[in-house]
Amino acid sequence: MAEIIVVGEAMERALALLEGGDVIAIPTETVYGLAGDATNGIGVARIFEAKGRPRFNPLIAHVADMAMAERIALFDPLSRKLAETFWPGPLTLVLPQRPGNGIHPLVTAGLGTIALRMPRGFGGDLIARLGRPLAAPSANSSGKISATTAQAVSDDLGGRIRLVVDGGATPVGLESTIVKVEGSEVRLLRPGGIAAAEIESALGKTLLRGTAVGIEAPGMLASHYAPGAAVRLNVQTVDAGEALLAFGNRRADGWEGAVALVNLSEAGDLREAASNLFAYMQDLDRSGAATIAVEPIPFEGLGEAINDRLSRAAAPRDNIASET
Ligand code: TXA
Ligand code: MG
Repeated sequence: MAEIIVVGEAMERALALLEGGDVIAIPTETVYGLAGDATNGIGVARIFEAKGRPRFNPLIAHVADMAMAERIALFDPLSRKLAETFWPGPLTLVLPQRPGNGIHPLVTAGLGTIALRMPRGFGGDLIARLGRPLAAPSANSSGKISATTAQAVSDDLGGRIRLVVDGGATPVGLESTIVKVEGSEVRLLRPGGIAAAEIESALGKTLLRGTAVGIEAPGMLASHYAPGAAVRLNVQTVDAGEALLAFGNRRADGWEGAVALVNLSEAGDLREAASNLFAYMQDLDRSGAATIAVEPIPFEGLGEAINDRLSRAAAPRDNIASET
């Protein structure tokens, strides 16, 4: 079971676990977060694994200060104004990523944008000490409501993580409000801890509501993170000229004819495979092959999420599903 340590005594233990690529639960002003180093693929993969999240929904990256935020993302004037007004606090901004920012692609599900938030209190102090951003979804297993006390986190995830930092009940108790600037307009993507009216009065303009047609709505597109190449799943035989995304230590027939080959995990470790998935797909896409052939990947554990992402990459490219 996870240790529960009160905030005043938890800093060194929390840092040691994060440095080792582990995930821990931390209090924020909104809800408890399940935090891992956003630059460490194994740490990020462990977040999805601990939550039992069937899909790689993009995660919020949490920062300690504006300098860290600007190293990760590109701020337009409206987003900067919102950050100045509401950070630290329960507001998340979706922004274009700064190239080469070191954020592991699993955090953003391969999107060009990133959700950023600056939490108050222990979370902010921890990120400043670590010197790197923390990826953190709400600390609950997939499908359950967000945890607002250390005990609720422990009851739900205590068997799967090593540390819950206890900061008492979270003051906001509801996830952050998520907005995204679109040209001269600002869209409300998720209502949350800061009322829309507060944001509207800070901006002097009305927020757009609902999802824009054609906007990236993570987890809602059947075809999502589609590479340029076609994708063929569960291959037993590789056709000449295909690139091969391999898994484990037994190769599909005809693998010698592949124009490029990368292995998600030689050892068959699904956590390692999850952390490599997006980068390796990009590598194979850059090989110029018309088709990426993918070896079968088991559906257990993180394999379910990996297969979900792969089936979206293989889906017809103009197909919008209603699921989230
Ligand atoms: O208060 C909160 O926001 C909490 C605490 C822990 O910070 N975190 C939280 O994370 O609620 P999570 O993973 O449960 O929700 C993140 C939301 C998801 O709905 C996801 O789709 C959206 O943020 N999101 C993340 N990146 C995005 C992006 N690039 N574009 C649009 N939406 C994004
Ligand atoms: Mg959540």
